[in-house]
Amino acid sequence: MIARKVPNRASRRVHETGSNFKESSVLGSLSLSSATLNCGIRLQASMAKPVSIEVWNPSGKYRVISTKPMPGTRWIRLLTDQDCRVEICTQKKTILSVEDIIALIGDKCDGVIGQLTEDWGEVLFSALSRAGGRAFGNMAVGYNNVDVNAATKYGVAVGNTPGVLTETTAELAASLTLAASRRIVEADEFMRAGLYDGWLPHLFVGNLLKGQTVGVIGAGRIGSAYARMMIEGFKMNLIYYDLYQSTRLEKFVTAYGEFLKSNGEQPVTWKRAASMEEVLREADVISLHPVLDKTTYHLVNKERLAIMKKEAILVNCSRGPVIDEVALVEHLKENPMFRVGLDVFEDEPYMKPGLADMKNAVVVPHIASASKWTREGMATLAALNVLGKIKGYPVWSDPNRVEPFMNENSPPPAACPSIVNAKALGLTASKL
Ligand code: GLV
Repeated sequence: MIARKVPNRASRRVHETGSNFKESSVLGSLSLSSATLNCGIRLQASMAKPVSIEVWNPSGKYRVISTKPMPGTRWIRLLTDQDCRVEICTQKKTILSVEDIIALIGDKCDGVIGQLTEDWGEVLFSALSRAGGRAFGNMAVGYNNVDVNAATKYGVAVGNTPGVLTETTAELAASLTLAASRRIVEADEFMRAGLYDGWLPHLFVGNLLKGQTVGVIGAGRIGSAYARMMIEGFKMNLIYYDLYQSTRLEKFVTAYGEFLKSNGEQPVTWKRAASMEEVLREADVISLHPVLDKTTYHLVNKERLAIMKKEAILVNCSRGPVIDEVALVEHLKENPMFRVGLDVFEDEPYMKPGLADMKNAVVVPHIASASKWTREGMATLAALNVLGKIKGYPVWSDPNRVEPFMNENSPPPAACPSIVNAKALGLTASKL
């Protein structure tokens, strides 16, 4: 259970920020019965552990909680300008438990901004609904941590953050592709260990990308952006598998191929595969971009790894359980020339035994969306989803066209940028 750190006179810091002000609570563990301090913070009974909360605009009418500090300050300003009291959990605990979040919600809460590490299901949505809340903003485009049916049952709108992650995530997938193909991490470790004693013909020989085939599984927004980067940047040919035809991507490759040809260069080509296996068999580099659901769990398993080229590169910036990680570790052991670049893991934050020892794996801690612009944009969209629902705004007509919400120089549209259960809740769509 989370309890709150309670400010006393000595430790309370109040900062003026325009018409709003912020209060940082920085005390240790207390065990108190319910009370309301003059700063307006309601205290929980029997606080088991200390917790730090930062409060903005304490007199705001709507109580909005963010389970984590989020990048930038615009999202806070947008909420406080609209009469929200914003409470940010600053507790040094990376993943909050369901109990922690229930304690944060308390008995009056209008909306919560949460994180993909949290388990938003029946228990949390019923707690939020009991506290009067009807808005939850997941600070992520993916929402496999959210039981949307449970949210709908309790009348809670679930927001996500599409439209701002595409290029940033694709850039990380491209970075992992390069790092794996050119063995950047291994080589860096070698240098730092003082092992470099001169140039050698065989030192860290990797794979050339130019003219090879890039395979994309899931050619939606991010998969297509990644494909374009690899095609335009490295003149790779494309093979993709998706339930839907990606006409825009195909047109792009055709046009780029014609441009190369007119310059006397080898044109790039594209092919839409009839099966995922076709991509796995033919591609030299494969990047995974499906959503995680029952149909994509362990999409890449032992059998499918076995049909890939022995020197293939596999990249995953989608969700960890899309790959059977135990099978992957075995495959990496048996095929030292096969390389992977992983941003996500089956049991995050853990890696399956043996993965950390594999030189042919590049592993990073789920940072695909971690550019400043994107993370600030995600925070803004998550906050505006919650604000919009509290204010009864309609739902934005195209969640991928979110530029109007990103413009710092004008107020955002009076709409929820993206509510995934809008239809189920019967929410109206914006005319804009
Ligand atoms: C990150 O993984 C996201 O889904 O936004």
